[in-house]
Amino acid sequence: MSQITPYNNTESKKEQVAQMFDNIAFRYDFLNSLLSLGIHKGWRKKCIKLIADKQPKYILDVATGTGDFAIAAMKLNPTKVIGIDISEGMMKFGREKLQKLHLDKTITLQYGDAETCDLADNSMDAITVGFGVRNFENLEKGLTNMLRILKPGGQLCVLEFSSPQQFPVKQFYKFHFKYITPTLGRMFSKDTRAYTYLPESIKAFPDNERFTAILEKVGYKNATFSSVGLGLAAIYLAEK
Ligand SMILES: C[S@@+](CC[C@H](N)C(=O)[O-])C[C@H]1O[C@@H](n2cnc3c(N)ncnc32)[C@H](O)[C@@H]1O
Repeated sequence: MSQITPYNNTESKKEQVAQMFDNIAFRYDFLNSLLSLGIHKGWRKKCIKLIADKQPKYILDVATGTGDFAIAAMKLNPTKVIGIDISEGMMKFGREKLQKLHLDKTITLQYGDAETCDLADNSMDAITVGFGVRNFENLEKGLTNMLRILKPGGQLCVLEFSSPQQFPVKQFYKFHFKYITPTLGRMFSKDTRAYTYLPESIKAFPDNERFTAILEKVGYKNATFSSVGLGLAAIYLAEK
């Protein structure tokens, strides 16, 4: 995967990504809903349904941001949900949301890097990642570390944007990302680069079969994917 970075400066991708999300955190939830017309909420719900069978009690939400995936996981009646992220700015807004929803006892958001965090081996029944893996500096390192943390038989569920290939979604997507996304992103987030980085990083991301191949390569079993939103995103499931 070519290394697409938010600001093309000399800092590492990780530092740039954390800075970008710190910058846009105050508008992240609003822009997410505006740009996707709210569709992303249904995708997270679908992910949660897919991992419900095994009734996971200890859930890790990697790249939790403002905590939406962790909140969606409450449907599973978990004992504990831990959300980790490298952007303190995003988690600040997430923690405020959790307090308002009275979920701050069950869900804890804490600083943690997918690639290096030292949560215990075999400690989580399920791991979720929503729109996070595309932003990892070292994708395989992040996936390998999450595999270490999963319990044997535990499930990884990744939700990530894909590059749609079918007419007319492909054409709509190109138009949206060329004109609408950067314009609205600039208007509302004050970060001129964040919403041009978004389509560039999606284009560079090894989606669909390429991603399941990477999951299998680093040691996951039964890696599958299903497209959602007419190919705008995909849900990946894999087991330890
Ligand atoms: C697009 S947001 C997604 C937030 C949330 N999961 C959602 O579904 O809305 C991506 C998040 O990934 C985080 N991130 C990027 N690289 C990371 C890493 N190596 N470890 C943990 N979080 C990371 C960013 O800081 C950002 O908050």
